[in-house]
Amino acid sequence: MEFKIKKILFSEEEIAARVKELGEQITKDYAGKEVTLLCVLKGSLIFTADLARRIDLPVQIDVCKAKSYAGSSTTGSVNLASLPEYLADKHIIIVEDILDTGLTLASLKNAIEEKKPASLKICTFLYKKDSVRSNIVPDYYGLICPQEFVVGYGLDYNEEMRQLPYVAALEV
Ligand code: IMP
Ligand code: MG
Repeated sequence: MEFKIKKILFSEEEIAARVKELGEQITKDYAGKEVTLLCVLKGSLIFTADLARRIDLPVQIDVCKAKSYAGSSTTGSVNLASLPEYLADKHIIIVEDILDTGLTLASLKNAIEEKKPASLKICTFLYKKDSVRSNIVPDYYGLICPQEFVVGYGLDYNEEMRQLPYVAALEV
């Protein structure tokens, strides 16, 4: 399938610099603690891997799956596949690729809170500030994303283009 990239929004270098800063911030905020990064598959695979390596603390990584997009539009519904069992008493940071409407994160957050973690925060790589339709506010975010459909650095269009090292707006 052929896709057309409209514009590169965030370069590889810019992303790396920002991820490093986020890692440093988390290292400071969680000093003396162990953090569990809960990677929301599949979009945040790459972000989680890079972020984890910028955190200078004991880090555990776990994964869960949530999906609300088909193609380039939100379906409005979220399928939460099974959550890791042992989240109780852990300092959990949900690591997301992008906060768009916030519907995905809102349901994920509720489900995790039921597992009684020691603390729960949200870290999203991209933040589409103007499209949030829930009361979700990220505790950490990488970059503010314009109201465009974007791909790369983990984000896909119908499962493709996740491997791009930069973030680009797509012609859809
Ligand atoms: P939300 O539930 O509307 O916040 O949607 C979040 C999920 O939708 C993200 O985890 C992505 O998988 C997907 N998504 C939202 N915007 C984009 C985009 O611009 N490109 C690719 N995926 C997106
Ligand atoms: Mg996602």
